[in-house]
Amino acid sequence: MPFPIYRPRRLRESPLLRSMVRETTLRAADFVYPLFAVHGRGIREPIGSMPGQYRLSIDELLKECKDAASMGIPAVLLFGLPRDKDPRGTEAYAEDGIIQQAVRAVKDTIPDLLVITDVCLCEYTSHGHCGVVEDGRVKNDPSLELIARTAISHADAGADMVAPSDMMDGRVAAIREGLDEAGFPETPIMAYSAKYASAFYGPFREAADSTPQFGDRRSYQMDPANALEAMREVALDVDEGADIVMVKPALPYLDVIARVKGEFGLPVAAYSVSGEYAMLKAAGQLGWLDEERAMIEALTGIRRAGADIIITYFAKDAARLIEQGRA
Ligand code: PBG
Repeated sequence: MPFPIYRPRRLRESPLLRSMVRETTLRAADFVYPLFAVHGRGIREPIGSMPGQYRLSIDELLKECKDAASMGIPAVLLFGLPRDKDPRGTEAYAEDGIIQQAVRAVKDTIPDLLVITDVCLCEYTSHGHCGVVEDGRVKNDPSLELIARTAISHADAGADMVAPSDMMDGRVAAIREGLDEAGFPETPIMAYSAKYASAFYGPFREAADSTPQFGDRRSYQMDPANALEAMREVALDVDEGADIVMVKPALPYLDVIARVKGEFGLPVAAYSVSGEYAMLKAAGQLGWLDEERAMIEALTGIRRAGADIIITYFAKDAARLIEQGRA
């Protein structure tokens, strides 16, 4: 055998050549930026385990939204911290709830920015679970009505898309039916279809004050060991009317992202969660990793696996690097 004819290094010699044959690109247009809204004014409270992220009163949240929009980030994903919690998570579907107010304010001020809302009860319930609790258990069907009501109230406030993250069975159908009946047949649903019971949500639960007060979420979120089950979950959500399906977290589940994209061909979102952000931030702060390069590599990997949309707390940092031609 002569020396191989194909020498892969030929195309790696110069930056220009490398960029010509690059298979995966990152754009600000691929990102969704998650934000946490709180009641009050002038509040910008740092989240300890998520450096660079804050709990924001609506006036401050608007500044973040303007910033994101000016960088070409098309969408934000809003989470809310209520004034009071109760067993049925009443503020989740209250007309003047924190999310409903935030959505109205963002749509009034920055109409071109897409506002996606997280639809869940866990930030609003006193027990911290994503559904109704009876006899110490999280009940599926009684939760559906409240979840659908929450989604409708978000659409009513002007949300461009709703994103149910509760993992109750049948919630996508319940939301679709509710939205259609309430006069919002055009509002798309981005379903957290394959959402795993993950340790990587830890920093988020600090941020959103949504840690379950008893037990854990394993009776409704997926077992990290299962991929075939993820295909069944996605198939159900597609049948029930999901427009975009999501895999969450992202980095430990790249195989699931790839399979969902390959088998369904629908737009796929990947949520690179709080723990993924915290890991890279922490290692960066310690000087153990080059944070910028690690961030871009991680986001590129998520896109390469097949995600069309990446929900990431790095959205602004990454968009800045891309704009500067450094990513
Ligand atoms: C609410 C919800 C969670 C996240 C998004 N929506 C937390 C959870 O399921 O406990 C996690 C997001 C993140 O970690 O960045 N159900």
